[in-house]
Amino acid sequence: MNYRHGFHAGNVADVLKHTVLILLLEALKRKDKPFLVLDTHAGRGLYDLHSKTGRETGEWQQGIALLQDWPDAPIGVRDLQQLMLRLNKDRGQTDWRYYPGSPEIIARLLRPVDRAVCCELQSDEAKALQLVLEGRRRISVRNEDGYHALRAQLPPVEKRGLVLIDPPYENEADSWSAIVRALQEGYQRFATGTFALWYPIKAKIDARKLHEKMQRTGIRKIWYSELTVFNDVANVGLNGSGMLIINPPFQVPEQVDQMLLPLWKKMSPQQQGYCESGWLVGE
Ligand SMILES: C[S@@+](CC[C@H](N)C(=O)[O-])C[C@H]1O[C@@H](n2cnc3c(N)ncnc32)[C@H](O)[C@@H]1O
Repeated sequence: MNYRHGFHAGNVADVLKHTVLILLLEALKRKDKPFLVLDTHAGRGLYDLHSKTGRETGEWQQGIALLQDWPDAPIGVRDLQQLMLRLNKDRGQTDWRYYPGSPEIIARLLRPVDRAVCCELQSDEAKALQLVLEGRRRISVRNEDGYHALRAQLPPVEKRGLVLIDPPYENEADSWSAIVRALQEGYQRFATGTFALWYPIKAKIDARKLHEKMQRTGIRKIWYSELTVFNDVANVGLNGSGMLIINPPFQVPEQVDQMLLPLWKKMSPQQQGYCESGWLVGE
């Protein structure tokens, strides 16, 4: 596998994924009862945007960098801005040099009663993640297949939880059919859990195939949000992305709805692409 998230960290897709992730975690924290977060495709946890890797693509310049000067940002974006400020301050930076991966975001937002398991298949990325999370209690790193963890870790003893599935979509293991099967398997084990799947959008019509497959599973309460910054005809690798959520916690769809249009206007200054959200399957 060649995928290294460092080339993409902080891009427009990460911004959608991580703002939604923060809103999901904050919603779970509104109840006292502990929960588990399972991050099936964790990455290395922390990214230096000024590193050779970060500079090579510079994707973050059309992503997180656009959020820096936005004083009246909507909820979700505001939370990510605050997290960026704290993370960089902790690392002695005044500008936004470091960007958090999902495990760092989860580690910062977990309460002492909650627990997280982060899976990363590539051993060098997993080792880097171990270092980033060193000393953080109740969050463990596993150098193993995240799809396997859906079987091994679910259902959690806490009976509450969030499963984040964020594959690189590089091979058959991450095809729409395989992803839908994995979600079905996870859901069968933990039907009351919240599942959040990140998916790439190259063309809207292709993303609709994922929606149709999900609608055929029989799973209820499936909600999605999408944000793209190029039109379908644009000759780019990725036009944008989506987050598909099974069992979204109370208020999260409304919060993402409030965030989505202003975020799209900010991220797509030429007003290319689109943003939309809605229920694929209701109650
Ligand atoms: C898109 S990146 C993850 C980014 C991370 N979730 C974040 O938001 O910061 C995908 C990661 O999954 C890892 N990976 C690929 N296949 C995997 C698998 N089957 N199980 C666990 N990790 C996998 C890759 O090495 C890569 O680091």
